[in-house]
Amino acid sequence: MLEHVKSDLSDDLEHRLTNRKATVGIIGLGYVGLPLAVAAARAGFDTIGFDIDACKIEALGLGRSYIDSVSSDEVRGHIAAARLRATSTFDELKSCDVIVICVPTPLTPHREPDLSYVEATVRTVAQHLRPGHLVVLESTSYPGTTEDLMKPLLERSGLNSGEHFWLGFSPEREDPGNKAFHTTNIPKVVAGDGPAALRLVSAFYGALVDKIVATSSTRTAEAVKLTENIFRAVNIALVNELKVVFDAMGVDIWEVIDAAATKPFGYMPFYPGPGLGGHCIPIDPFYLTWKAREYGLATRFVELAGEINVAMPRHVVVRLAEALDRSAGKSLSKSTVLLVGMAYKKNVGDTRESPALELMELLLDRGCTVEFHDPHLGEIPPTRSHPGLTGRRSVPLEAATVSRFDAVLIVTDHDEVDYSLLGQHARLILDTRNVMRRNGLPTENVVLG
Ligand SMILES: NC(=O)c1ccc[n+]([C@@H]2O[C@H](COP(=O)([O-])OP(=O)(O)OC[C@H]3O[C@@H](n4cnc5c(N)ncnc54)[C@H](O)[C@@H]3O)[C@@H](O)[C@H]2O)c1
Repeated sequence: MLEHVKSDLSDDLEHRLTNRKATVGIIGLGYVGLPLAVAAARAGFDTIGFDIDACKIEALGLGRSYIDSVSSDEVRGHIAAARLRATSTFDELKSCDVIVICVPTPLTPHREPDLSYVEATVRTVAQHLRPGHLVVLESTSYPGTTEDLMKPLLERSGLNSGEHFWLGFSPEREDPGNKAFHTTNIPKVVAGDGPAALRLVSAFYGALVDKIVATSSTRTAEAVKLTENIFRAVNIALVNELKVVFDAMGVDIWEVIDAAATKPFGYMPFYPGPGLGGHCIPIDPFYLTWKAREYGLATRFVELAGEINVAMPRHVVVRLAEALDRSAGKSLSKSTVLLVGMAYKKNVGDTRESPALELMELLLDRGCTVEFHDPHLGEIPPTRSHPGLTGRRSVPLEAATVSRFDAVLIVTDHDEVDYSLLGQHARLILDTRNVMRRNGLPTENVVLG
């Protein structure tokens, strides 16, 4: 009898997913949640976005997107068609069939996983849980989060996973600023707590994206996400280390990488930079490090990569001090520096964990006068780690502005920046991205960072 009820419920949901009759709720309308909500609406689902941030709800209500990869036109279109709406009223979770959680998973000040957002959200979902719900976690976390943390919290409602509701995990794979890949054409890893959950999670994401990749457990899917980000963190650390070593030997790391990348197998180019940024790569590896301790294991590779990457902004400051001394006999403390690019990666306005913020703090601390230019950022938003920088405004990139500074420090190589103007008017350029040479510009006043 119970088996019969179970399969009726899951068959019914699968049917409604296939026919786009299910209602989708997305909790957390940030960089991950808003594109997902729009993708669900585009796929034909009635979609409700939930967030505790009143500004986001208000913006969406007015048809305004605040995420680069989502156009306001599309948001307005879905709202007008009554396919999408945003709310802070979590009672409406009851009317959803699918609930996807996309809330932040940062680190605490002691660099340990901060799952407070996930826990608070799961408790809210538990209050509104009903038979037939499919609940999916998209937030990045350590293996075991879905089944060991989420499931017991949800089951406190008296309903059981696999019996009354279904539980899954599907990690997000965003590449902000990459115009070739977006939610729909990035293969999506999916996993369920049991076969029925996997079938439903697959039916849901199969309606949204071109390709799904099923794993055997939610633990595996959680590990996939961490592996992808650790792979990047470790490889970036490796080239950052090689940059310092080769530089001491008079060898140019950029030339080395370009030549090595001609090898048609067994090599993949990663590029050095001023340090890691973004919500994922500087943070996610430490979720594994923390969890590994529970098993008496150390993740030495991961920690070493973290150490090397974290040291990069200080390395850049030392390079800048040397370059100023050599080129103009000036000390850092008496210099004026223009930072170009505050965002953590090119062509986006996201400053989360950006090494540019750390660099600005370090330079100010050394007594420099520092300003910045970023075509994607009018002013520095509030951040937890650098509250003192909030509200500093981008200066326009004009000949007179550029020539006023002792040095220009290129931190992020946005495409819109006029590098030729920089080359003509800057007294000294410390280029941490090799963008001047890549653009074929003269390099007499350029030092690689
Ligand atoms: N940004 C990326 O490129 C990216 C890529 C892959 C994975 N992720 C992961 O996805 C998750 C979300 O990241 P993001 O970049 O979208 O974060 P974000 O900060 O842009 O968005 C999170 C949203 O959740 C909201 N929120 C917080 N607590 C809430 C609650 N209790 N109820 C409802 N809403 C709440 C916030 O107001 C915010 O709007 C994280 O685990 C992150 O590691 C992010």
